[in-house]
Amino acid sequence: MSYIARIAKSAARPALATAARRSVAPLTATRGIKKINFGGVEEVVHERADWPQERLLEYFKNDTLALIGYGSQGYGQGLNLRDNGLNVIIGVRKNGASWKAAIEDGWVPGQNLFDVSEAVQKGTIVMNLLSDAAQSETWNALKPLLTKEKTLYFSHGFSPVFKELTHVEPPTDIDVILAAPKGSGRTVRSLFKEGRGINSSYAVWNDVTGKAEEKAIALAVAIGSGYVYQTTFEREVNSDLYGERGCLMGGIHGMFLAQYEVLRENGHTPSEAFNETVEEATQSLYPLVGKYGMDYMYDACSTTARRGALDWYPIFKDALKPVFNDLYNSVKTGAETQRSLDFNSQPDYREKLEAELQTIRNMEIWQVGKEVRKLRPENN
Ligand SMILES: NC(=O)c1ccc[n+]([C@@H]2O[C@H](COP(=O)([O-])OP(=O)(O)OC[C@H]3O[C@@H](n4cnc5c(N)ncnc54)[C@H](OP(=O)(O)O)[C@@H]3O)[C@@H](O)[C@H]2O)c1
Repeated sequence: MSYIARIAKSAARPALATAARRSVAPLTATRGIKKINFGGVEEVVHERADWPQERLLEYFKNDTLALIGYGSQGYGQGLNLRDNGLNVIIGVRKNGASWKAAIEDGWVPGQNLFDVSEAVQKGTIVMNLLSDAAQSETWNALKPLLTKEKTLYFSHGFSPVFKELTHVEPPTDIDVILAAPKGSGRTVRSLFKEGRGINSSYAVWNDVTGKAEEKAIALAVAIGSGYVYQTTFEREVNSDLYGERGCLMGGIHGMFLAQYEVLRENGHTPSEAFNETVEEATQSLYPLVGKYGMDYMYDACSTTARRGALDWYPIFKDALKPVFNDLYNSVKTGAETQRSLDFNSQPDYREKLEAELQTIRNMEIWQVGKEVRKLRPENN
């Protein structure tokens, strides 16, 4: 029963919205920079409005953006840069899957599609969007091409931060910057097309010209960000690896499975177990958490749901916190990086990955999900 979802017109909503506004109230708002008080901590945020298209075109008028790698991020960032009117070229292995995908998206060999080294040589800003394992594998060939006055750009702190493991040690005589979208490249693209924008972080590793930070912010907007917040390469990689293994994917998948299995073991039908675990969460409650916050959910749900959730969340938190501590430690020590490099560098990694993904596809819960989704009226 969706007893939690009795919320939409709650009288509490205006009060909560006001409270939410207070906790992220802008303190200063000058062109190009905003300091925002996030729950008592002041942080710098830049918005797309500060970098309209004319300003981007002027700023990058002498640049060639050589985007290497055309996977998820290469696709999203590359097409957004192109639609923003910037001079962008793609560099990928000739005749690989990405080469073919790029041609399908309208990139033209010899015009704005080249092999990796040719693109790097032509670029003034080299955007390294190869997979993290490939960044490590190709580094010895790439590094000598990163000559003075080029800029090196990443979308993840992974390669330079864990340089003892990846052997990616950026030259010290060029600017090295980062813009990391907080979502998949597909979302980077779809939000841009809708006139919206992904949220991204930005950081500076080397500032040789004195303009590295400004360049990182401008590029972050140019690839399709709606707003960008400041970080460091270290904080970006640690939070990103931690988050995706935790609440964003690994942790939430583990929690879905545990709840579903207990329901099934106690005689609940597959559809009931799925509806109470995944469908209600994703279709009814999580969008509201996204829109108004968890505090709003507590205020707006039934008294029965509220009492239970208030009693049980500390139990879950206490049980899970040691796991999160272990996870953060595993990220910080580089163990997660080593694991990722080892696995993703194997010649047969795609087949091995496919076997693991097939196991997930075959799980009862996700098989049931397919049938449940068909029942949504919009899918009939
Ligand atoms: N995906 C995300 O959600 C996301 C979000 C934020 C940041 N990032 C970061 O963005 C960067 C790119 O990630 P991604 O997910 O877009 O990567 P990806 O989809 O895994 O892209 C792989 C690209 O690397 C190329 N590649 C793989 N091995 C290669 C090799 N040995 N030599 C040359 N090229 C090789 C592939 O070309 P072929 O087709 O020829 O194999 C493909 O173009 C990473 O630093 C990642 O951490 C990703």
